[in-house]
Amino acid sequence: MARVHASIEPYTRLRRGSLWRLLRTPPQPTQAPAPVTSNPVARVLADLADARRAGAYPPGPTSFSLRRTHRLSHDPLPLLLGWYEQYGPIFTVRVVHAQQVFMLGPAANHYVTVSHAENFGWREGAFKDLVPLLGDALLTTDGPYHDRARRIMMPAFHRERIEGMLDTMVEETQRALAGWHPGMVVDVYGWARRLAMRIALRTLLGLDPAESKRGGEAAHQFERALSFYGRDFTLWLLRGPGSPWQKMQTARGRLDAIVLDEIRRRRGQNGGPGRDVLSMLVAARDEDGSRLSDGEIRDQVTTLLFAGHDTSTSAITFLMHELACNPTALSRLRDEQERVLGGEPPTVAQLGAELPELEMAIDETLRLYPPAWIGPRRALEAFEFEGQEVPAGAYVAYCSWASHRLPDVWEDPGDFKPERFTRENSARRPKGAYVPFGGGSRICIGKRLGQTVVKVVSTLLLQRFAPELPPGYELSVRQMPTLSPRGGLPVILAAARR
Ligand code: HEM
Repeated sequence: MARVHASIEPYTRLRRGSLWRLLRTPPQPTQAPAPVTSNPVARVLADLADARRAGAYPPGPTSFSLRRTHRLSHDPLPLLLGWYEQYGPIFTVRVVHAQQVFMLGPAANHYVTVSHAENFGWREGAFKDLVPLLGDALLTTDGPYHDRARRIMMPAFHRERIEGMLDTMVEETQRALAGWHPGMVVDVYGWARRLAMRIALRTLLGLDPAESKRGGEAAHQFERALSFYGRDFTLWLLRGPGSPWQKMQTARGRLDAIVLDEIRRRRGQNGGPGRDVLSMLVAARDEDGSRLSDGEIRDQVTTLLFAGHDTSTSAITFLMHELACNPTALSRLRDEQERVLGGEPPTVAQLGAELPELEMAIDETLRLYPPAWIGPRRALEAFEFEGQEVPAGAYVAYCSWASHRLPDVWEDPGDFKPERFTRENSARRPKGAYVPFGGGSRICIGKRLGQTVVKVVSTLLLQRFAPELPPGYELSVRQMPTLSPRGGLPVILAAARR
């Protein structure tokens, strides 16, 4: 029998139990998962105890090294690519006190996200850190509890729903572009972030910052809470008045009050659901007629805000960076826009099938800079991959960013070449090679929504302006909590040719 990690025991017990035991104790999909400790010292001690109990790990750089840990948390890509070359698609890295197994490449991605996904828990991996802000929601739960919530939430992300959000996206983007003129220098990252947040507040929560103070307040508190995760890990350890932890908790409390109030307001409205995701979640039912509680909806929508706005921001920003560096690709995209749109905002049908150049440019941007670049997990049971044994309880991660840059999978991996994503080229790619939205049954639930936001915002921007980088600008990528240009992305706006 596999060695089982102490802190993942409850879930694992169910999984490894014999059939009769499973039948006697059927999973309780509505039962909230056991709380996780937010005490970092307790977690470090538990990790150390688990590591002592665990068996051998795959080879890799496992000596204690603060320098390596620092480099890994500031510029992981070159390190991961170097270790892939040295050790192959699976290796172990010691990060501070813990052993972290990385699995890279098409087969590894497929193994973790699709073929053996059941053996990898999300809540007990690094997503655990998000529980203090997000609570028990899609990113931080597993098993029946997760699956029930996902089933209830799925209809809110269907095509027709996203199509109904298009006008809001266009309106917000036009408003955000008002006042821009050729020659201006803008921080596209900061701009896209504010815009993506406004779109998220309206489409997810039904809060319009232009119409009520609550929207602005919700955005402010959310950003304050989120900034905790951009801090250095050592600052996470501090507690008490004035600490980042306490500020995060205060901001979360204020955000909760707004969200819970919105939920109650909708419960009080007897009419059909509004068009925002929150209204849909309030009205939604599972197959057995059960529905999400107020607390569950709160956790889920906060998670959607978290998972949705940063990722779209990142994609828009890096697309502008790549187009500024690749005039040929920009010009192909502009020709397509003029031919298909003629200066008008895109319609649903046009976004769906008539702008392949845009689609390919976005796909290639997400290859080079997948915003959610790492998929952290915890192995429920011991397993073997490519001849290497991994013990139960090991921290395991697949990594789209490094996988998308492997020279044995991608020709000229560092180059921006949208034509990689023609239908024929995509069909030739091994499964698991391209995973910017993850894979399997837990593939990004907001994929269509995120893609639509990125398409609308970048189309409207490029219809009016061509991005150029200031002389001497060099991109440096920050990876926490999602990929972004360190210090923002200054862009000079040139007039788009008509
Ligand atoms: C360009 C935009 C986006 C990208 C690149 C992206 C990427 C990802 C990735 C890679 C995962 C899987 C993570 C893993 O395997 O560990 C994921 C999951 C998820 N994403 Fe997205 N995402 C985007 C937009 C959105 C949006 C707009 C929303 C919601 C409003 C969203 C909500 C979620 C949720 C809730 C999950 C967890 C799903 C589950 O476990 O069932 N994402 N996303």
